[in-house]
Amino acid sequence: MQTPDSIRNPLLKSKVMSADAAAQLIPAGARVGMSGFTGAGYPKAVPAALAARMERLHAAGEDFQIGLWTGASTAAELDGVLAKAKGISMRLPYQSDPTVRQQINSGESQYTDIHLSHVGQLAWFGFLGHLDVAVVEVAGILPDGRLIPSTSIGNNKTWLDLADKIILEVNSLQNPALEGMHDIYYGTRVPPYRQPIPLVHPGDRIGGPYLRCDLNKVVAVVQTHQSDRNSAFAKPDDNSERIAAHIIDFLQHEVKMGRLPANLLPLQSGVGNIANAVLSGLNSGPFDNLTAYTEVLQDGMLEMLKSGKLKMASATALSFSPDALAEFNTNVEFYRQRIVLRPQEMSNHPELVRRLGVIAMNAMIEADIYGNVNSTHVMGTSIMNGIGGSGDFARNAYLSFFMTPSVAKGGAISCIVPMVSHVDHTEHDVEVIVTEQGLADLRGLSPTQRARTVIEKCAHPDFKDALRDYFERSLQSKAGKHTPHMLQEALSWHQRFTETGQMLPK
Ligand code: COA
Repeated sequence: MQTPDSIRNPLLKSKVMSADAAAQLIPAGARVGMSGFTGAGYPKAVPAALAARMERLHAAGEDFQIGLWTGASTAAELDGVLAKAKGISMRLPYQSDPTVRQQINSGESQYTDIHLSHVGQLAWFGFLGHLDVAVVEVAGILPDGRLIPSTSIGNNKTWLDLADKIILEVNSLQNPALEGMHDIYYGTRVPPYRQPIPLVHPGDRIGGPYLRCDLNKVVAVVQTHQSDRNSAFAKPDDNSERIAAHIIDFLQHEVKMGRLPANLLPLQSGVGNIANAVLSGLNSGPFDNLTAYTEVLQDGMLEMLKSGKLKMASATALSFSPDALAEFNTNVEFYRQRIVLRPQEMSNHPELVRRLGVIAMNAMIEADIYGNVNSTHVMGTSIMNGIGGSGDFARNAYLSFFMTPSVAKGGAISCIVPMVSHVDHTEHDVEVIVTEQGLADLRGLSPTQRARTVIEKCAHPDFKDALRDYFERSLQSKAGKHTPHMLQEALSWHQRFTETGQMLPK
């Protein structure tokens, strides 16, 4: 199963053991930094062995939980198994697993939802506590002990540097030709020793292709041969195609007005089906010679690289459907010249996003008429996934789009509301809101101008009258006229919907 030369360092070869034996080396209560970003490059054997150990200990009446840190979301073989074993006491910085979500929302697990670019530095500052163990998937080990990263980098550099003990999973199913695709920058420092990051184009390489670690900290090496999550994307539906068309029209207008170059500026695209559909729209759209400075490379960007619409893409993870993965593996040499994978503190770095002038496109749960955006909470209290990298990009972008269908749950819920039930992106970070109904360009508008624009352009016809009525009555009320609200009514807007998403009679 394991190709004989995946582990070419003799010291590390001498530490090969089973996943069960490696899992024994993780103590109860440990803070564990695992690899994994959007279902790519996560460890696949040690978490299962650890979950089995937790279940045995729980059955014997012993407590066994860990604090789990990753790059971003992982998969059933990591988040899923550990949550089912009731083994996660604290989770950060992002998740999208149904069991983890349920445990967070029931109060069984704690969750710290963090801007993805911040995680590395917070760990370095010591703000998250001490990291005990790193469990990191790699694609191979060189004779001198340097590590060939896997399909994601995420926070691996930081975990390897900071943890007391390291467990490596060497996954021989990952394409050996990944070697050379990564760019690991070791120049980051903490204040007051920070220096400018020497990256000025999305494709710049400013580090080296390998991760490194203190070999004496490696306590176990586990061999695996298992694929990433590789979830398929839904085919773009009518709504996503309309959202994509609005964005493309708008970008064409911006080029015509001289506010964007003909090949635009580096694109960032968020997670999920709508984001992927927008990329499919761009692939058949009018722009050429595009570049991407983004977090995750999904199917849509791979198609754009293949068609030549996209010249190059920088990201921290490859998150493909099975079909896209097959295409990537078949033509890996072609893609290796066009993709750079970086640590997430670089892929999402605010300084770089601002310098490059990234065009940020992220999905959301709801927006309010004044342009505040909720990306994370349903009905203000239940977490969906987390803020992810959306804030890293939105606040620092040249142009920041947020998009959603105008209604959710079969039309029972309006995604345009008087006041968002939770704010992730304030009105100051949101420039363009897009639904299938239309696009609201909020640049330079005052709150009341924004409200009229958002209602008229983006709200679903079933909710337009209610929103207009709310806004007009707020304008007439005794409240301040800058951002008029009827606070009690705004707050009760969400309560008119039942838990199951059915609208209650007024
Ligand atoms: N009220 C209640 N539920 C809502 C809702 C609303 N206003 N809007 C959406 N939802 C629900 C949907 O019904 C769906 O629920 P289901 O899974 O039970 O069917 C779920 O939220 C996801 O919505 P969907 O329309 O499928 O969108 P998506 O897959 O594009 O995800 C986000 C949208 C916002 C959840 C997702 O993009 C996200 O987690 N974003 C935050 C992180 C981020 O932006 N990362 C990228 C940075 S690089």
